[in-house]
Amino acid sequence: MVVLSKPTIEQYSYIRNCLNPTLYSGIPLIDLSKPDSDHLIVKACEDFGFFKVINHGISMESIANLESQAVRFFSLPLSQKEKAGPSAPLAYGNKSIGPNGDIGWVEYLLFTANLDSCSQTFLSVFGENPEKFRSVFNDYISAVRKMACKILELLADGLKLQPRNLFSRLLMDEQSDSVFRLNHYPPCPELQASKGANMIGFGEHTDPQIISLLRSNNTSGLQISLRDGNWISVPPDQNSFFINVGDSLQVMTNGRFQSVRHRVLTNSLKSRVSMIYFGGPPLSEKIAPLPSLVEGEKSLYKEFTWFDYKKSAYNLRLADNRLENFKRIAAP
Ligand code: OGA
Ligand code: NI
Repeated sequence: MVVLSKPTIEQYSYIRNCLNPTLYSGIPLIDLSKPDSDHLIVKACEDFGFFKVINHGISMESIANLESQAVRFFSLPLSQKEKAGPSAPLAYGNKSIGPNGDIGWVEYLLFTANLDSCSQTFLSVFGENPEKFRSVFNDYISAVRKMACKILELLADGLKLQPRNLFSRLLMDEQSDSVFRLNHYPPCPELQASKGANMIGFGEHTDPQIISLLRSNNTSGLQISLRDGNWISVPPDQNSFFINVGDSLQVMTNGRFQSVRHRVLTNSLKSRVSMIYFGGPPLSEKIAPLPSLVEGEKSLYKEFTWFDYKKSAYNLRLADNRLENFKRIAAP
């Protein structure tokens, strides 16, 4: 008689991945050109708060143009980069992330995703050719915002919410507080010296906005935390996008979607360049669980404005659970 032993977790997840073509290395894979993607996206947001998108419709030319501008910017002398200034609408940062002592092996450029407000700053930072940067940036931002809206509309369809633009209108609003970030993780020589110990590029956190769309070059480093608290590495793919559920979407879906904790570890040899669009609501927008998603259940969060949430998040560390202060305390 043959006795079959129970599969190990690794064998089980391998078998599951083989059987289920929507999973790639354990990470849900969404083909945006397929008509049935709304249910798959909902499932991915429930199970992971994270998924990978192919056939996203953003031209490789637009992506490559922005990446080469980013590489050009990060190769400027520090004194030139620092001219971008320390705060909105354009901010350059080096190693220090946020105002509360978080440190990472990273430098970054943060923009409000509305260029008209920062033309003067662009002139000073992008030296000879700010117009070129502006047009490359505008092309990319409008394409990526369109993709974000398409995903949010599919999510509304999948959740049977009306109108289908109830999330996407927040990103399309003229006052939308969306931001865009270029991150550069230089190769980390200390890592070589320490023989492979992990060094933090960007410490663990969740993104506070509604949704984030990340594209990186082919250097690994990004990791996400699963619901059971285990971390998995996300294989890089420069031709795809990676989508994160943000805290605000977690609140609006009353916790049905979970904002994903993620982090970046450094690489000893290659530099990683990532560009992330964070789709956020207007500052005055009230964020609360949607009544149709609360029906029959308890509302888990208090209502707050996006302005309140940003202010509160600004006083916390990257790894803190920023939603803690906005949870409803269950009645005794
Ligand atoms: C972020 C982030 C990941 C990366 O900027 O919020 O999670 O790969 N970045 O740069
Ligand atoms: Ni993030």
